[in-house]
Amino acid sequence: MNLTEVKKMLEEKGQSHLLKYYDELSDGGKENLIKQIEAIDFSVICEIEKDEHEKERGIIKPLGALTIQQIEENRKEYESIGMEAIKEGKVGALLLAGGQGTRLGYDKPKGMFNIGETKELYIFECIINNLMQVVNKAGAWIPLAIMTSDINYEDTVNFLSEHNYFGYNGEYVYFFIQDMSVTTDFNGKIHLTEKGKVSFSPNGNGGWYTPFVNAGIRDEFVKHGVEWINVFAVDNVLQKIADPCFVGATVKSGCVSGAKVVSKAFPEEKIGLLCTEDGKPSIVEYYEMTDEMMYQKDENGKPLFNYGVILNYLFRIDELDRIIDNPLPIHVVEKKVPYIDENGNYTKPEKPNGYKYEKLVLDLIHLMRDCLSYEVVRDKEFAPIKNLTGVDSLESARKLLEKNGIEY
Ligand code: UTP
Repeated sequence: MNLTEVKKMLEEKGQSHLLKYYDELSDGGKENLIKQIEAIDFSVICEIEKDEHEKERGIIKPLGALTIQQIEENRKEYESIGMEAIKEGKVGALLLAGGQGTRLGYDKPKGMFNIGETKELYIFECIINNLMQVVNKAGAWIPLAIMTSDINYEDTVNFLSEHNYFGYNGEYVYFFIQDMSVTTDFNGKIHLTEKGKVSFSPNGNGGWYTPFVNAGIRDEFVKHGVEWINVFAVDNVLQKIADPCFVGATVKSGCVSGAKVVSKAFPEEKIGLLCTEDGKPSIVEYYEMTDEMMYQKDENGKPLFNYGVILNYLFRIDELDRIIDNPLPIHVVEKKVPYIDENGNYTKPEKPNGYKYEKLVLDLIHLMRDCLSYEVVRDKEFAPIKNLTGVDSLESARKLLEKNGIEY
């Protein structure tokens, strides 16, 4: 597009302010800005008009789980099936590490955060330590893909290689970069972060499969023999990765996916609930929960809608291939987004000042044919670090590390 065409297009979309500083830019800067504008997917911004809290859903029903007790009764068998699969190279791991961790307020990739008190202990290190437990038992390396964003790619790659992957075999570590999406203010006006720079931010953790395929890593995984991918978040320092029991139970169930879940701690807990929607697995976000979903009990007095997801999933690759072209919904999320104000000054807001547009991995579950809901002991496997203090924080995670005998 030439400048006249870009101007016309932006005018039609109500985004002419993106060219406010165009004349002040160098020739290269001008060209670069036009390229960025051409890359914008404006369609996401229409999502502002749909109220996230009132999106139409199908018929939601509770989904039970393979309970902790049932798992313990069959642990030996599940572990042996899972171990066999791991030894045969059928299991790969995928770390979602493209987020910006705005709640933690740490500018570097969250995995670089040192959670130690008496020694250094980085979040990435905790993850590798957890994965190494399985690698050592199986006597086989597990291919590990790490998704970053454009913004934190270099820091992540450098940090891990400087630390020798905390003992992991670098030949089994693959990095790829997720897609980005624009950020806007609350009126849908796209932010600039510099006079010639449009504000793009990572487009959520849901769209990982396409860039994973495009980067050639799916094919690398398949070459290793991988049939299952264990997808997990960066911030849960207690989570088990490529957990043989989880793998074995999911394989045995015949399901094409699996989700680790915990029993709700209290009825109103802010956790996504694994349910069924029109007969297919589906996750209902806490803000969509009706009173019935919060308070109704089953015949044993347990909450009817009881199982919350902890962002640890198993996906079968052939099922991901089947659904790769299905669109995922866009979620409009309020966040703190740095931008340049009307006077051209860079501003880092203290509270949410606009929207990011994200695809979420939980929506991928609804595209699956079925999903094994697999219950784990919360205090042993769920210590997410979202904030510095309070709920899901550094503080609460440290207490759980101590409870599990992990030095920090
Ligand atoms: P969160 O929902 O906690 O988002 O991500 P966040 O961006 O890291 O943190 P806040 O909300 O700004 O405080 C859950 C997981 O999904 C990954 C994160 O790195 C984390 O492992 N994620 C999130 C991505 O990989 N890409 C994204 O675009 C967003």
